[in-house]
This record gives sequence, structure tokens and C-alpha cells, in this order.
Amino acid sequence: TARYAVFGQPIAHSLSPHIHTAFARQEGIAMEYEAIEASAAEFSAVLEAFAANGGMGANVTAPLKEVAFALCRTFTSRAKLAGSVNTLLRKGDSWHGDTTDGVGLVRDLTERHLLDLRGRRVLMLGAGGSARSVAPALLDAGILELMVVNRTSERADELVDAIGEPGRAKTRRWEDLHELGDFELIVNATSAGRDPTANFVLPMSLVNSMTTAVDLNYGEAAIAFLAWARAMNCRNRVDGLGMLVEQAASSFQQWHEVRPETDPVYAELRARHV
Ligand code: ATR
Repeated sequence: TARYAVFGQPIAHSLSPHIHTAFARQEGIAMEYEAIEASAAEFSAVLEAFAANGGMGANVTAPLKEVAFALCRTFTSRAKLAGSVNTLLRKGDSWHGDTTDGVGLVRDLTERHLLDLRGRRVLMLGAGGSARSVAPALLDAGILELMVVNRTSERADELVDAIGEPGRAKTRRWEDLHELGDFELIVNATSAGRDPTANFVLPMSLVNSMTTAVDLNYGEAAIAFLAWARAMNCRNRVDGLGMLVEQAASSFQQWHEVRPETDPVYAELRARHV
């Protein structure tokens, strides 16, 4: 059987093996999908051994997305823009890299939550790996404006420079959040929710009667931001569970050339997790 895996550190609690196994069962595809722990320093050797043992494809999660990018010989253009990959596909004797997080997010928002992103003003908090991997897809989805605000403003500037659409993708300083007006979509792409010591207070002025608040995390890590969104009466609050299932479906599609049904897997995880 063909071998697939997700790599990261930590990786024990990854939902990817469960999701991919469910997709494979649904499509009648025989494959093996495991979770393999690797540090950034080990990853090159671990991935090589995986390929030597029949590894055909892989997902990559924190903290390996940038390291994985450096190990690919070819990329999709969106992966090149993000400078990171979450999906590896074996092509001959080398790896081809893609990032499916952004399309996963857009699909979750537009098809599961039925949001129309076209013409929207979007605030993105954070400019790390997650932010970089979703920003281009939001722009591709036809939003009017993407305002990237990061605690460290240089990183936001870098992200926006890489996108290269100064008319639509802009940065502002974190200290100026209260002056930016309101947004129809606020995307939390920071890792603050994973830090119990983080003091994550955002101004109320960011929210209007239409605002959807999205956290790219799910579970515990999404609680703080989504609690703020609830307190601010945001119209919709969305965590990252749907994006997780949708990015997995896009990876699966590249490996197996069939798009799995995501709704049953999403519903089952939702029933278990939140
Ligand atoms: P990920 O892969 O999850 O994106 P990352 O690349 O380490 O992780 O990026 C983390 C992001 O969360 C960064 O934008 C970081 O801001 P800095 O660039 O200023 O470090 C942001 N972040 C982390 N903790 C935060 C906090 N307490 N308040 C605001 N932003 C925070």
C-alpha cells in the first residue's frame, strides 16, 4: 500500500491521520497514513527515509512548513508566495510542494459558512506562517482590501511586500488597531491563543453588525479570540476545524486524483471536538 504521513512536532494529537483515513475509506482507496514526529533539524533525513520506504505524499505542520519548502524541488505558485508548504507530493526522485491552507479557509468560509467574500474589507491579525499561507487565497477570493496587522510590524510589511498588490494588501501598526475602522471579516492568524500568558485584547471598534470572526486555530487555542468575538456580538464566529478538513481534502485530491466529501468528516469531528 502507498504510504502517506503528516510530519510535525508535536504531532501525537494531529487529526490528519483520522481525516485522511476517513477520506480513503469513503473513496475505497487503499493507503496508509501515519503521524511522524520530527524536529526541524531532523526533518530532512526523516523525509528522505520516508521516501526511500515508499512515501508518496505528506502533510507538514508546525514547525516544519518552511523547512519543508526548502526541501522541495518544484512548487505551486501559491506555495512560492507563502514560502511554506503543507502538502508534499512525490514526483520521480524529488518533492513537489503546495500549500492548501488558503484554499481550505476560503472553501470553508464560502461553501460551509456561505459567506460572500467579494468586496469585503478584511483584517488579518498576525504575519507568521499561517498568515502567509492564507493571505493570497483571500485576495484571490475577491476581497476588496486586506489589512495585515502584526505585533511586530516589520513582519507584516514583509508579507504585504511579498504579495505585491499595494492597492489591496496593506499594513497598519498593532498600536493603531483602534483607528482602522470596522471590518466584515477578522481573521486571527496569530498564535496568541496557544500562549496562556498572552493578553489578547482587541478594540471593539473593529466590529460592525456584519462581522465574521475567524480563528485559524481550533479547540483550546481558538477560545480566547472567539470569546472576544462573542462578547463583541460578531454575527458569525468560525474556528479552524473546517479549514483543517478542507485543506486535507485538497491535499488528498492531489495525491489520489479524487475530491472526497468533507461534510461527513467535518460533522463527526465537530461532534467530538467543540
Ligand atoms: P504560525 O505558524 O502559527 O503562524 P508563527 O509563524 O510563529 O506561527 O507566527 C505567530 C504569529 O502570532 C506572529 O504573527 C506573532 O506575532 P510576532 O510576529 O509579533 O511574533 C503572533 N503572536 C504570537 N503571540 C502573540 C500575542 N500575544 N499577541 C499578538 N500576536 C502574537
